[in-house]
Amino acid sequence: MIYYQSIIGNTREFVLKTGIDHCEITPENYDFIEVDEAFILVAPTYASETTYIMSEFLSSYQNYRYCQGIFGGGNRNFMDLFCYTAKNLAKDFALPLLHLFEFQGNSHDVNQLIKEHENLCQNLSK
Ligand SMILES: Cc1cc2nc3c(=O)[nH]c(=O)nc-3n(C[C@H](O)[C@H](O)[C@H](O)COP(=O)(O)O)c2cc1C
Repeated sequence: MIYYQSIIGNTREFVLKTGIDHCEITPENYDFIEVDEAFILVAPTYASETTYIMSEFLSSYQNYRYCQGIFGGGNRNFMDLFCYTAKNLAKDFALPLLHLFEFQGNSHDVNQLIKEHENLCQNLSK
């Protein structure tokens, strides 16, 4: 399972390209989602006024316990601020930062997410 936030739509398109089950975190649902299975979080980069819903989602019901790691989406033109949201979330919740990509991701980025999801499924079936 993949959880993600998307404002403009890049992250949504990235996740859709993988064909993996997914759920979009929105201002309407973020504090109602109680997770009961392993997942990967895909986080676009914006100011915390926008991305706080991902922090709240991870904190709520201790959902972070099911999070296997974080993918970060951003834009390299932001230089040192590239993907800082995903980096901060990984640090704040002591979660692995799995991969960073730009915009809707290229085929390598999509394959990385598919690969990490396969790892997750294999670990669950052990
Ligand atoms: C107002 C605004 C601020 C942004 N700030 C950053 C940033 O600090 N670092 C970064 O890597 N990308 C930044 N981005 C780029 C977005 O994170 C990137 O386009 C991402 O793909 C957007 O995901 P979404 O289309 O799913 O909302 C910013 C984009 C916008 C519109």
